[in-house]
This record gives sequence, structure tokens and C-alpha cells, in this order.
Amino acid sequence: MTQPFYDRLAPYYHLLYPDWEVSMERQARGLAAVLEEFGIPRGACILDAACGIGTQTLGLAALGYRLSASDIAPLAVARARLEADSRGLRIDFGVADLRRLSDVFPARFSAVLACDNAVPHLLSDAEIRQALAECRRCLVPGGIVLVSVRDYAAIERKTPDVRPYGARVEGGHRWTAEQIWEWDGDQYELTVRLVDEPPDGGRRIHEFRSRYYAIELTALERLFIEAGFERVERRDEHFFQPLLVGVQAVGG
Ligand SMILES: C[S@@+](CC[C@H](N)C(=O)[O-])C[C@H]1O[C@@H](n2cnc3c(N)ncnc32)[C@H](O)[C@@H]1O
Repeated sequence: MTQPFYDRLAPYYHLLYPDWEVSMERQARGLAAVLEEFGIPRGACILDAACGIGTQTLGLAALGYRLSASDIAPLAVARARLEADSRGLRIDFGVADLRRLSDVFPARFSAVLACDNAVPHLLSDAEIRQALAECRRCLVPGGIVLVSVRDYAAIERKTPDVRPYGARVEGGHRWTAEQIWEWDGDQYELTVRLVDEPPDGGRRIHEFRSRYYAIELTALERLFIEAGFERVERRDEHFFQPLLVGVQAVGG
């Protein structure tokens, strides 16, 4: 259900941010600080393997990294491509599932990213381990994988958990967004509800449904190690979600 969810959401995805452009720049600066800390300079080859409409991809390309970008949702990738073209950014786009990433991309990246809670769309430890191992296969020796996820250990589990995302005005339309979470064991059903109020009156409701596995950071760290990373480090200070950095051995 992940791919149709993000394909349908692609034209509206930026409305989940108060200001998408500002968030793109802020997120890219935060990621660049981590890349620098791990010895990856501007100009290095980076693969954003869950690029969506390009929130991290576009910002990092604008900072001078050489970006390739993929996602399981082709319409999200198509929008990311249009956004890149409109900004004059050269990015190599593709459609790929994290679990089979190395079928599409050769091992030549200094870093592979999957940011903003992409990995918890995989609904079991086995699938996540496979995805992390595939990301690792796309790295040059000594490269890193950067994954950002929600800190599920810090979230109270209540059903329904209604999370307002605020209102935006665009082209005279007023858009109101909210997320609704419904827990089911370690997983939850997510509904994104967008209410569109056009200038000529009326009200249209768009709903999108998907599912997440609320994997905790300690469990995810263990899966990095099981997927063959030499070590994994957590960084909380640079990005709006905790970042796990899996380091590939120089000889690995
Ligand atoms: C919350 S969105 C974040 C997208 C992008 N990183 C951003 O911040 O705009 C999560 C993304 O993960 C992608 N995704 C989920 N499962 C995937 C998989 N198995 N392979 C590749 N991409 C996947 C979704 O299609 C979606 O674009």
C-alpha cells in the first residue's frame, strides 16, 4: 500500500510543511553537517534511496553534492524530477525498492540516505535488515548509510491519535492537513487527511492511507549491525528526527 499512497500524495506532499523550501534548505544543512563529520565532502556521490518528491535530494544537490535519487513511488519520483528541472539541478533519478536497491544502482556512493521515516514502511525486521544490507551494497568502502526515523519509544500509543499539521494558503485555496494514527500492536494505520477549501467556496476532502511498523531506535541499531555495518552511531542535533549512521568498514 506504500507505493499508491505516495503516488497519490505526490502533488500535495509539500502542503505537509509550513514552508517546503525553507525545510529543504534546513534539512540539507543538517545532513551536510553529518556528512562532513563522517568525512564526506561536497561533490561526493550521494544516493537518496527514499527521495519522495525530493525534500532532501534537492537541498543537498543545491549544496553541491552529486545526487542520484530513487523511490518506490514513480509519481513521487516524477514530481522530484520536475522540481529538479525547475531549479536547474542535475540529478540522476530512478524508481527502486529499498529491498532491491543494488539491482538498480552500482556500488559507488559515499553515502546512501533514507530520510523522514521511510524505513518503518517496511513492516518486519527481516525486510528492514534486507533494505539496510542493500543500501550497504551500494556504498564505496568506508561509506555511510543515513536513516532518519521517528523516535517511537518517546511516543504515547493512543487510538485514534489525531495530529494536526496546520493550514496553508496556496493559489487562493486553503489547505488543512492532519494525520490520524490507529494502533495495531507494533504497527499503526496512518490516514493523511487534506481538506481543500477553494476560493469559490465548497470543501473537498482527500484521504490517503498507509501503514507503519513502529520500530524503536535501539532495535533499528541492532538491524544495522546484523546487516553488516561495522558500527552505527546516533545523531540527534542536526535533523528534525534522530539520525542513525551506519558505517561500512573500509575493507567492506
Ligand atoms: C515520509 S516519505 C519521505 C520522502 C522524502 N525522503 C522526503 O522527506 O520528502 C517516505 C518515502 O519512503 C518511500 N518508501 C517507502 N518504502 C519504500 C521502499 N520499500 N523502497 C523505496 N522507497 C520507499 C516512500 O515512497 C516515500 O516517498
